Amino acid sequence: MSAQSDVELIKQRKREGLTIPLHRDVQAKAASTYLEYVALIHSALPELDFDTIDLSTTFLGHKLSTPLIIDSMTGGTPEAAEINARLAETAATLGLGMGLGSQRAGLTSEELAQTYVIARKRAPTAFLLANIGGAQLAKGLSTDDAKRIVDMISADALVIHLNPLQELVQPEGEPQYKGVLNKITELVKSVRVPVMVKEVGSGISKEVATKLERAGVKAINIAGSGGTSWAAVERHRAEGAGNTLKTHLGELFWDWGIPTAVSLIEVRKAVQLPLVASGGLRNGLEAAKCLALGADMCAMALPFLKAAAESTDAVFRFTGVLLHELKSTMYLVGAKDIQTLKTARYVLTGPLAEWFR
Ligand SMILES: Cc1cc2nc3c(=O)[nH]c(=O)nc-3n(C[C@H](O)[C@H](O)[C@H](O)COP(=O)(O)O)c2cc1C
Repeated sequence: MSAQSDVELIKQRKREGLTIPLHRDVQAKAASTYLEYVALIHSALPELDFDTIDLSTTFLGHKLSTPLIIDSMTGGTPEAAEINARLAETAATLGLGMGLGSQRAGLTSEELAQTYVIARKRAPTAFLLANIGGAQLAKGLSTDDAKRIVDMISADALVIHLNPLQELVQPEGEPQYKGVLNKITELVKSVRVPVMVKEVGSGISKEVATKLERAGVKAINIAGSGGTSWAAVERHRAEGAGNTLKTHLGELFWDWGIPTAVSLIEVRKAVQLPLVASGGLRNGLEAAKCLALGADMCAMALPFLKAAAESTDAVFRFTGVLLHELKSTMYLVGAKDIQTLKTARYVLTGPLAEWFR
């Protein structure tokens, strides 16, 4: 295949990776994050003024004015460049971290590289996370390529995403995960920035977290189930491609995964690493619950994409509400800062409590 048609195919796939989550149903159906089974304890005597609540924090050596990350999403098409620009402007102004989508596309042409670079241009000093798939590492992505991906956006950290379910259901997917852990172990030693490993919506178990810690990764984003389902996204693509087996698999495994709250609690107990909570977080109250459960940062993907598809203003408005919800929760539990919120008392109920019985 010619290099040009290769680039066109990548653009097409990346476009579908935006239009399907934006316009089709891709949220968990019967599954949930289980965050509804976490009760933070109300304080009738918060002993603080709302306006003095401090959201600032430090993550992987970087100071941020909020404990929020726009989770890894996109790049690789002109539409993605506009989305990344809008997200980056918000990240820069309001002090959020921001992840880019898988940057393999950016290695294929300068035109596609620019759809990621735009984020650094619009957010010169923000905490930006580069992104590459674990499956790509197993297939032979070189250390030099990984370094190029980091340099492409002058990243502050490199994220390796694990997506075995997506590879399984994707019409052109390659469910080949043998050797990924070894590749991660090698990569951690050879890139200049900290490496974080994340799932994409099926969660990280305590066993996997322990292996990742031993491999030398510097943080984990648990990205549990209950939010965006990649089985669902790929199910829709498989249907469009007339692939009945993959459509069936997407349907069957739509809700597969470890609920976000379960994954977060068990990984927090298993490892000392800084943790990011994501997967189905939809408001500041849920973010506060995750911080109390032991997360160091919280991340969201789809809600930011929906706002960014509208306008930069919409992303600002959405983020403003999110931060107000988080502060409101902190006020109601009497937490003046993120450190105090992390010690807030909570009770686990229902199926979440049963999980740990
Ligand atoms: C449109 C879209 C594209 C995504 N692309 C990537 C990606 O390239 N790399 C990655 O690590 N995660 C990717 N994700 C997964 C998110 O980072 C996140 O882990 C997941 O969507 C769960 O969060 P949510 O329920 O808030 O959407 C993507 C998510 C969305 C919605």
